[in-house]
Amino acid sequence: MRDQIVAGNWKMNNDQHETQTLLTELKNHNKPENVRVMVAPAFTQLSQSVSLLADDAITVAAQNMNAAASGAYTGEVSSSMLKGVGVKTVILGHSERRSLYHENNASLADKVNSALEAEMEIIFCFGEQLEERKSNRHFDVVKAQLSEALFSLPTSAWSQIVLAYEPVWAIGTGETASPAQAQEMHAFIRKLIQDQYNETLAQEVAILYGGSVKPGNAQEIFSMEDVDGGLIGGASLNANDFMAIVNAF
Ligand code: 13P
Repeated sequence: MRDQIVAGNWKMNNDQHETQTLLTELKNHNKPENVRVMVAPAFTQLSQSVSLLADDAITVAAQNMNAAASGAYTGEVSSSMLKGVGVKTVILGHSERRSLYHENNASLADKVNSALEAEMEIIFCFGEQLEERKSNRHFDVVKAQLSEALFSLPTSAWSQIVLAYEPVWAIGTGETASPAQAQEMHAFIRKLIQDQYNETLAQEVAILYGGSVKPGNAQEIFSMEDVDGGLIGGASLNANDFMAIVNAF
């Protein structure tokens, strides 16, 4: 049985006070035992979030990290810094990092290796742009993103990896992939892993969907056979909406 996961990517939202308010609200909700729930606040709120959630089942992830262990990288944060404040999971490869900060499959492979060495869990994001889907290249794009960043890894590394398929055209747009489109891509991804590695591993890897998941559509998307949960942006900023999604399995 694969993990079912709902992770909230807060992006560049929530200052100290807003973080405290939202986490306190989330703590007051009952969480289902069969779902792993995570939040990914900004770097400046990680330590506070880990402390506030110390007695709760929700865990804390970072939104990014640098591949280097330390050094002259102004404005960057390393895996040991994250681990030092109690963060054991990192989101890598988000489409906003790719498009706004020029991350690519090669630089992401370095980040993945660095996070694995630090024994961190990785939520690895990828997905096609609208033009790529319209021109029917979405399967090729996703295949390249996965093979260039992840498919040189040994089988053993995959116990630390969660995949998050986030079609760029569905992020923050209110337009979601239909459940059938999500299922089609997730099944394709699982088959890629089966062909590259083996069927057991393919069946064990959790594949999340991200892109305008809301309380009103989560249940339908999560009911798809190869969808193991969601990476939630906008709706994760509201406690009731986020917990409705957590409870949508
Ligand atoms: P939205 O849920 O706001 O579309 O964002 C999705 C996302 O980017 C999660 O990482």
